[in-house]
Amino acid sequence: MPDPSPIVQLTTAYWGSQTLFTAIRLKLFDGLAQGARTADEVASSLGLSPRSTGLLLRACASLGLIEASAGRFSNTPMANAFLVSASPAYMGNAVRYSDQLYGPWAGLEQSVRSGKPAVEPESYLGLSGPQTRGFVEAMHQRAMGVARALVGALDLSGRKNLLDVGGGPGTFSVLLTQRFPGLHADVLELPGVAAVARELVAAAGAADRVSLIDGDYHSSDFGKGRDAVLISGVFHRESAESCQALIKRAADCLQPGGLLAVCDVFADPGGASPAFATLFGLNMMLTAPDGGVHADADVAQWMADSGFQDARTAPLPPPMPHRLVLGIRS
Ligand SMILES: C[S@@+](CC[C@H](N)C(=O)[O-])C[C@H]1O[C@@H](n2cnc3c(N)ncnc32)[C@H](O)[C@@H]1O
Repeated sequence: MPDPSPIVQLTTAYWGSQTLFTAIRLKLFDGLAQGARTADEVASSLGLSPRSTGLLLRACASLGLIEASAGRFSNTPMANAFLVSASPAYMGNAVRYSDQLYGPWAGLEQSVRSGKPAVEPESYLGLSGPQTRGFVEAMHQRAMGVARALVGALDLSGRKNLLDVGGGPGTFSVLLTQRFPGLHADVLELPGVAAVARELVAAAGAADRVSLIDGDYHSSDFGKGRDAVLISGVFHRESAESCQALIKRAADCLQPGGLLAVCDVFADPGGASPAFATLFGLNMMLTAPDGGVHADADVAQWMADSGFQDARTAPLPPPMPHRLVLGIRS
C-alpha cells in the first residue's frame, strides 16, 4: 500500500495556521516579550482562560514559535524578531492578512464551480477605507521582507526614471531610490491605495524621490523616455492577455536600453510546481477575478515577443518564493 502520510498531514494542516493566527490576534507573543512566564500569568495579563491558554502555549511550543521549560514559556528568537508588535521586523499584519483569507478559502469549492472570486476585490482596493488600509499595510510588511532580496537582485545603477506599475505601498520604490542615488520613481496605483501609500512614503522621508500617481495600469499614460519599469505582484491578478498588454505598454514607455523587471510568484513550465506557487494561484483565484499564477518562462517569451532582448528569469534567494524576469528594451 502507498504511504497515506501526506493525506493525513493535509487534513490537519490548517490547525497550525489557525494556531498562529489566534496567537497573533490574542497578542500572545507580546505577552512574552518581557521574558518567561507561566500559562496562568499570560492568561491573567491577557484576560484569557488559564487552561486554554496553556494548551495554546504548548501548541505554539510544538510549532517552534515558543519555548517551554519547567512550566514557563518564552518566545523563540524568531518570535521575538517577527511576532512581537514592537519589533521593527514585525510580520503580524502580513499574518493577519492571511488570517482574513481563512474565510474565503472555505469558499474554494464555490469558486471552482462558479469561476468567480470569493471576495470582492474592490473592497480592499479602495471601496472600504479600513480594508484598503489593512491591505496596503500588509503589502508593506510583506514587501519589506521581499525587498531584502529584490533590492539586492535588481541593479538600477545609472538609471534615473523608474515607473513602478501597481506599486502598492511604494515600498520597493522607496528602497530602490535609497539604494540608487539619482533615481526617481513614479508609483502608478489605484487612487484609494495611492492615498495610503502617500502616507507611508512620506513617513519614510522619501516623498521628494517617490511620487504616487493615481491611475489604472490598463489605461493610464505610462509616460515616455523611461529607463526602468518595475511590475511586481501584478501579474498574479491578471490574465495572460492582460500581462502581455502590460509588457507592451512597458515597452512603449521605455527608451532603448531601458530595463523591464517583472517580479512575482511564478510557476515552473506546465504550471504544476512548485507547490507554493500552485496554491498561491488558488489564493489569487479567490481574491481577484482573473487571479492565478503564470510561469516565468511564459513571461520571458512574452517579453521577447514585445521586443525585449536577453529576457531571462532569476529566482530570488530562499526563503523567497518570488522570481524575477528581466529584459532590456531593444
Ligand atoms: C499584490 S499588490 C503588489 C504591490 C507591490 N507592487 C508589491 O509588489 O509589493 C498589487 C497591486 O496592484 C494594484 N492594482 C490592481 N489593479 C490595478 C489597476 N487596474 N491599476 C493600478 N494598480 C492596480 C493593487 O492596488 C495592488 O497595490
